[in-house]
Amino acid sequence: MTDPGARGLPPDRNGHDERFMRLALALGSRHLGLTWPNPSVGAVLVDESGKVPVIVAQGITQAGGRPHAERVALEAVGRRARGATLYVTLEPCATRSSRDHGPSCTDLIVAAGVGRLVVSVADPSPHAAGQGPERFSHAGIPMNVGCLAEDGARLHRGHITRVTKGRPAVTMKLARSTEGFAGSRHGPRLILTGEIAQAKVHLMRAHADAIMVGVGTVLADDPLLNVRLPGLESRSPVRIVVDSQLRTPATSRVVTGAGAIPTWILTTVEAPVEAEKALTAQGVEVLRVAADEAGRVSLPEALGLLGTRGVTQVFCEGGPDLADALAKADLIDDLILITGRSARGQGDVPALGLSLQDRMDQLSLWAEEQIGPDLFMFWERP
Ligand SMILES: NC(=O)c1ccc[n+]([C@@H]2O[C@H](COP(=O)([O-])OP(=O)(O)OC[C@H]3O[C@@H](n4cnc5c(N)ncnc54)[C@H](OP(=O)(O)O)[C@@H]3O)[C@@H](O)[C@H]2O)c1
Repeated sequence: MTDPGARGLPPDRNGHDERFMRLALALGSRHLGLTWPNPSVGAVLVDESGKVPVIVAQGITQAGGRPHAERVALEAVGRRARGATLYVTLEPCATRSSRDHGPSCTDLIVAAGVGRLVVSVADPSPHAAGQGPERFSHAGIPMNVGCLAEDGARLHRGHITRVTKGRPAVTMKLARSTEGFAGSRHGPRLILTGEIAQAKVHLMRAHADAIMVGVGTVLADDPLLNVRLPGLESRSPVRIVVDSQLRTPATSRVVTGAGAIPTWILTTVEAPVEAEKALTAQGVEVLRVAADEAGRVSLPEALGLLGTRGVTQVFCEGGPDLADALAKADLIDDLILITGRSARGQGDVPALGLSLQDRMDQLSLWAEEQIGPDLFMFWERP
C-alpha cells in the first residue's frame, strides 16, 4: 500500500513507484541472513528523464552489512546518478560509519545529485531516525516515505524489532498434521510435509540470522538444522538450542557439527559446569541467562542477549513447548503454520498449546500458500 503523503512530499508522479520499489524489496530480501547486525536493504536507481524510465543501477547491502545498498547502486553509475530517482527499502543512514568512518548514505545521495528519493519504511535507528529528511529537503531532494510500507516493514522486521525492542524478531514455524499433531513421543517420527514444503523451509532458514529449537526437539529428532538446498549450503545460519540444564547430548548432530556451523546453547546460570565443558570442547558456545520462575531459560533475557549479539531475525522451529512459552511471553512476531496434508505416521504431541492458540487471536493472518499438498498460513503481529 502506498502512502505518498506520509511526509507531505510529492506523490508517485509517474505511477511506477510501486513497481520499482517492488524490485528494491526483492533485492533486499536476497541478503537476509547475511548482513546482521545490519539490515538487508535493496536500492534501485532509475533515470526518469526520457519517455520511459530506465533502471541504471541496483544495489543490495553486502554480506557483513557493508557497503550499504545505496552506496553499491550509486558507485555503479557514477555521474548517471545525477537527477535520477533512488528507490530504497529503508530510510538511508545519516551518520558516518563507525567501522570505516566513511560518509553516510545520506551524504552520498546528496553528493551524487540524486533527483528524488522514494523510501519504503523509516528507520528508527539512531543512525537514521529522521535525520535525513531535513538534509534532503535542504539539498532540494524530494523524499517520499511509505511506498509499499507493509512489505518494507516485513522485510525489515528484524532490524526494526532489534532497534525498538532490543531483541531479534521471532518467526515461529510449526508443522502439524491435519489432526493437529506436531510429532510423536511414542511411535516412529511423524513426517509431516512433502519435499517441496521442506525445500521452502530450507529457503526460509537461509534467510534467517539464526535457527532456534528447544532441547526437546534435539532429544526427539537429532536434527541438523542446516540449509541443504543445492548451492545454498553456505547460507546455514547460527543454530541455537534453548536448554535449561544442558541436556543436549554431546553426541547430537548439532553439537558434533558445531565446528562447521556456529552453534549456541542458551541455558540458565544454574546449568551444570561439567556439561558445559563437554559441549564447549566440541565448539559449542554456551550462553547463560537467568532462569524464569519455573527454572527454565528466561526467554525475554535470552532474546535480549541475542539482540546484543547483533541477531535481528530468529527462525524458531519449535517444538510445541518452546512455541507455547514464546507465545505466553508475547515474543512471537510472525507465525508460519504448515498443515501437512500428506503426513505419514501417527502423532501424539499437539502442535498448538493454549497460549499459542490465545496469541493467534491477536495476530493477523496475511497470506496462505499451497505448496505441493501442504498448506502454509502466515500470521504476523499487526
Ligand atoms: N511439527 C513441528 O513443527 C515440530 C517442530 C519441532 C519439534 N517437533 C516435535 O515436538 C516434539 C518435541 O516437543 P517439545 O515441545 O518437547 O520440544 P521443544 O519445544 O523443542 O523443547 C522443549 C524443551 O525446551 C526447554 N526449554 C528451555 N527453556 C524453555 C522455556 N523457557 N520454555 C519452554 N521450553 C524451554 C525445556 O527443557 P528444559 O527444561 O530441560 O530446558 C523443554 O522441555 C518431538 O516429537 C518433535 O518431533 C515438531
